[in-house]
Amino acid sequence: MKILVVGGGGREHATIKSLVGEGRQLFCAPGNAGIANLATCVDIKTNDIEGIVKFATEEKMDLVVVSQDEPLVLGMVDALQEAGIRAFGPNKNAAIIEGSKAFSKDLMKKYNIPTATYEKFTDSKTAIEYVEQQNTYPIVIKASGLALGKGVIIAQNFDEAKEAIIEMIDGGKFGKSGNEIVIEEFLTGIEVSVLAFTDGHCVRPMISSKDHKRAHDNDEGLNTGGMGVIAPNPAYTTQVEKQAYEKILIPTIKAMNSEGRTFKGVLYYGLMITDKGPKVIEYNCRLGDPEAQVCLTLLKTDLLTIMNAVIDEKLSEIEVKNEEGAAIIVMMCSGGYPESYEKGKEIIGLDENGQNANFEYVFHSGTVKKDGKYYSNGGRVLGFVSKGKDVKEAQDKVYSNIDKVSFEKSFYRNDIGGKR
Ligand code: AMP
Ligand code: GLY
Repeated sequence: MKILVVGGGGREHATIKSLVGEGRQLFCAPGNAGIANLATCVDIKTNDIEGIVKFATEEKMDLVVVSQDEPLVLGMVDALQEAGIRAFGPNKNAAIIEGSKAFSKDLMKKYNIPTATYEKFTDSKTAIEYVEQQNTYPIVIKASGLALGKGVIIAQNFDEAKEAIIEMIDGGKFGKSGNEIVIEEFLTGIEVSVLAFTDGHCVRPMISSKDHKRAHDNDEGLNTGGMGVIAPNPAYTTQVEKQAYEKILIPTIKAMNSEGRTFKGVLYYGLMITDKGPKVIEYNCRLGDPEAQVCLTLLKTDLLTIMNAVIDEKLSEIEVKNEEGAAIIVMMCSGGYPESYEKGKEIIGLDENGQNANFEYVFHSGTVKKDGKYYSNGGRVLGFVSKGKDVKEAQDKVYSNIDKVSFEKSFYRNDIGGKR
């Protein structure tokens, strides 16, 4: 059978690795140098709906997995289905749960799903007046649309809030995504990522995880796409898990059904465990990156079996099993990331398959290969995964080996999973 994964980062590398199996021919668009060791990479951009549909039709793909937020929000799954191609991922009318924070906040309010209190605005003057009335800081200002993970400002005072509002609504900082904004209460607690498969009836979560978003140790520096992850997340106790399942995971799926927007695919619940229980910070309509690399590494059930069960709405008939123990990923990035950085640095320490035997696996986020050598080709470049009986053991393993791979100006956080 022929399977195409749309995307080209670490998450797609992990997805492809989990899909490897006898009788399966794997393709990835556009892929990267690491992915090329497991799949045939085809040079089509992730947002090119027409190009993907054409390729999938001509090459007779049996399944297309749409892995990134933008093509999902733009309706790639709908276009594939219209062309008679089996596709994994939510339809456009369900992907809006990530594509519009205004939508997802209204959904949570209507269906009593715990989240930060909020208001939405399309006019900067009214928004600024609202912040003045609230007069509590920090306060959170969010562009409603997709913004590459950069559309959230935690304003520490009135001036910062005002500046963020004006930049988003009047200054067009995030283009159309910032035409509408959400202003919400600042929540305190511990964040947990829960990536769950759902067929619109049943929800089967993967192991919980904890992302580390800031660029530098001690959570200093700018927000990034994610610098490292541990799983399981120690704050997601059995009790919290039960509360989240009953008050958030299931009610969200039911709410989407009631709205005529049945969600099928992977729903990412970004939660804050507050002293009043878990609350939703955000939803994503796809696997998290780098969470997926860790969660899929610990997934025991065959990913293709799960994806088929989701598409056929038979998820309740199978179990989603995880390995015992823990795993960690530490991202190696280009100096300067998430701001400007250089590409094209030769990577030392990888074998011809883009691996290093000291790790469980090395996932490629941004690499190219020329004349048998690997080079950096993005801000986040490589993700090093180790497993252990617990987080501590996994952490010790990854950090005692990470310096075996490097490139000029590469850097990584030293405290993924806590101080050592
Ligand atoms: P988002 O893109 O919505 O995930 O937001 C990015 C990050 O901003 C989250 O991972 C949180 O760390 C932080 N954040 C977002 N909303 C809130 C909130 N209401 N209270 C506290 N932190 C938040
Ligand atoms: N790691 C956060 C995300 O995938 O959005």
